[in-house]
Amino acid sequence: MRVFISGATGVLGRRVVQRLSEGGHEVVGLSRSQANSGWLEQNGAEARTGDLFDQEQMTELTADCDAILHLATAIPTKARTKTADWQMNDHIRRDGTRVLVEAAIRNKCKLYVQQSITLIYGEQNGNWVDEESSIPAKQPSILESAVDMEQIIQDAIQQHDLPAITLRFGSFYSHDSAQTQAMLQLVQKGFFPIAGDGQVYWNLIHVDDAASAVATAVDNYQAGLGETFNICDDEPVYYSELMRFIAETLGARKPVRFPRFLNNLMLGSHVAGAIFASARCRNEKVKETLEWKPRFESYREGYRSVIGKWLES
Ligand SMILES: NC(=O)c1ccc[n+]([C@@H]2O[C@H](COP(=O)([O-])OP(=O)(O)OC[C@H]3O[C@@H](n4cnc5c(N)ncnc54)[C@H](OP(=O)(O)O)[C@@H]3O)[C@@H](O)[C@H]2O)c1
Repeated sequence: MRVFISGATGVLGRRVVQRLSEGGHEVVGLSRSQANSGWLEQNGAEARTGDLFDQEQMTELTADCDAILHLATAIPTKARTKTADWQMNDHIRRDGTRVLVEAAIRNKCKLYVQQSITLIYGEQNGNWVDEESSIPAKQPSILESAVDMEQIIQDAIQQHDLPAITLRFGSFYSHDSAQTQAMLQLVQKGFFPIAGDGQVYWNLIHVDDAASAVATAVDNYQAGLGETFNICDDEPVYYSELMRFIAETLGARKPVRFPRFLNNLMLGSHVAGAIFASARCRNEKVKETLEWKPRFESYREGYRSVIGKWLES
């Protein structure tokens, strides 16, 4: 297939470009700089320059493509964010999605893939959830656009038969992710605190596995059309256990504890409310339907690999 990718130059997108090119697909990446165009061309993809929010341009850029993958995000990398720092991410999720969905409909694409996030399951008191579980109507402000984005896809499936697959990813980690690097640095210095008892489940996915899930969705797309899949590893983990494991693997001192309410002061309630909600996500549906499974089955294998690479770099 000829596959158009927004976000082709991101931590996730670059891996997807490489996998799809190696798998024999023709890859077209949206680029916003000469450096990114150069990287795409060196990695077997065609670079096309354009504005994600310009409907006519995106429809034209994707006119000869069989599939559109919307993987662009603009997650702020600084530790303490204001809600305004999330505006571009919201814009990409709502307006970028509307534009690319419309392009896929006008160009009669065979496949549209949407990057979404398991954090929208919200506070489930640590219970297991799957793709049939209801999504809370009230969300922290930084996740409202993810819920809207999924609704745009569902509406387009119902009204226009959009051949869409939605992938709800667990929290990404990789040695080259700015967020993972910042967290490892803090743990190494012994500065990473655990709020309260830290018994909040996190659902994780190594970015290599996130990319392999996207590539599998492209290869096996007919089995997944119209569906939403959780893409996370097999073992949701308490955030306190994850931090303890990382500190031990790094040879750092044990993370300190502090009262939970300070989370809101340190991160802002818009972020703390999103990342400290507890749910355990099942991944059986994607295993059965698309025949995908993570190579890093738990945080243990995944973080050992990431820490090894991070220490080497
Ligand atoms: N599930 C999760 O946990 C999750 C989800 C999303 C993101 N993240 C965090 O983000 C990182 C990896 O995810 P990622 O690959 O999505 O992020 P990323 O590495 O920041 O890449 C973002 C991609 O989106 C593109 N982009 C940003 N703004 C754009 C705009 N206005 N128009 C068009 N394209 C735009 C970027 O293009 P340029 O190269 O031109 O900037 C880049 O290709 C990780 O560090 C991860 O922690 C996590």
